[in-house]
Amino acid sequence: MTKRVAIFISGGGSNMLKLLESMTDDHPARACVVVSNDPNARGLEIAEARGVPTEVVRHQPFKGDRRAFEHALSGVLAPHAPDIICLAGFMRKLTAEFVDPWRDKMLNIHPSLLPKYKGLHTHERALAAGDKFHGCTVHKVTPELDGGPILGQAKIPVLPDDTPDRLAARVLTQEHLLYPAVLRRFAGGDNRLVMLR
Ligand code: GRF
Repeated sequence: MTKRVAIFISGGGSNMLKLLESMTDDHPARACVVVSNDPNARGLEIAEARGVPTEVVRHQPFKGDRRAFEHALSGVLAPHAPDIICLAGFMRKLTAEFVDPWRDKMLNIHPSLLPKYKGLHTHERALAAGDKFHGCTVHKVTPELDGGPILGQAKIPVLPDDTPDRLAARVLTQEHLLYPAVLRRFAGGDNRLVMLR
């Protein structure tokens, strides 16, 4: 049976677009909804233009009450009946209350070679550390931020003239290849690692 995928975004949605583009033909999944915490997220327009339903749950009115925000998220999600959630640049931390029921069904993409550089500013941190390689990771989401089991990684060399922006752009190109490759495999019930290099 075709899996239904909800994609959570907060911004540009370039990873979301690559996931949407990938889910055609014999792909084992289809997008059922795109959800954003930001009504101005550009990815919402892109999803709508492609005929994918969208939902917005703004986090500000909840004034830091994460559980109430997540309750609202679950409320908008339920009618779309997703089987899988893909976090794609979704910039809100999710608590165990939300994450636990989705264990083994929620993925995230992170712009570092995890377990290195969980959290923000990954490109700056890789450069500051003098790393020779950097990249991105798709992992299952657990309550530990950026800490769940790894499903795939793409690795690129750090170049002598790299700046955080240049490195971020090259990593993003890899994200666009990695996330669709992992989702296709994962939605088909195959949890083997995808390694791009
Ligand atoms: C990506 O680098 C993602 O890994 C990070 O935020 C960025 C989102 O980009 N968490 P986009 O919204 O998919 O264009």
